[in-house]
Amino acid sequence: MSCKNIAQFRGWVCRKDRERHNSHNAAVFWFTGLSGSGKSTIAHAVEKRLFDLGMRAFVFDGDNVRHGLSRNLGFSPEDRTENLRRIGEVTKLFVESGTICLCAFITPLAADRKMVRDALGRDYHEIFVSCPLDVCESRDVKGYYKRARAGEITNYTGISAPYDVPESPSLIVETALLSLEESVDTVLQYVLRNVVPA
Ligand SMILES: Nc1ncnc2c1ncn2[C@@H]1O[C@H](COP(=O)(O)OP(=O)(O)O)[C@@H](O)[C@H]1O
Ligand SMILES: [Mg+2]
Repeated sequence: MSCKNIAQFRGWVCRKDRERHNSHNAAVFWFTGLSGSGKSTIAHAVEKRLFDLGMRAFVFDGDNVRHGLSRNLGFSPEDRTENLRRIGEVTKLFVESGTICLCAFITPLAADRKMVRDALGRDYHEIFVSCPLDVCESRDVKGYYKRARAGEITNYTGISAPYDVPESPSLIVETALLSLEESVDTVLQYVLRNVVPA
């Protein structure tokens, strides 16, 4: 579909104004990793810490988005790409609003991560939540690994669908080696370094 006859309206308040108002910059911190690696746990803990510091942050979580914005999509490669394209576009709007976006999505394919990176440009920071499959599987937070092994869930990342290990993430958090507190602190410090002007 073409948007050549749809002009964009420019408002009176721009991103820079909002960032000054918030006393911090906006950016996107994209958590990628296997199911059960710790993306949601860390992203929500960081959101709370930022909120308590008086900052504007918001978590976009794969599980929640699939109940609304992407409820008409499944887990085929095409649907995963469309899901991520939508999230990328929504976070772009949130960045304009001055928000620190914490996006917790498996984002298994390098090509999809590139699509999001290209859409967000310099605002995109990739955080690889690294954890061996056997540890994720033993955590089995939602019981999905067991069901995927039993063949009840298809296209399950790590079991019956691929995960491309990120080649040059901005930050790696090894959640099988760090405690939860250490993981959260590591990410929080990275976020602060990148959103608070020196
Ligand atoms: N260092 C750590 N960082 C994050 N989560 C951890 C860590 N160590 C153990 N966990 C546990 O691993 C699980 C991760 O689950 P979750 O955050 O839902 O994963 P994901 O969103 O990546 O699927 C949680 O039960 C969490 O308490
Ligand atoms: Mg999650």
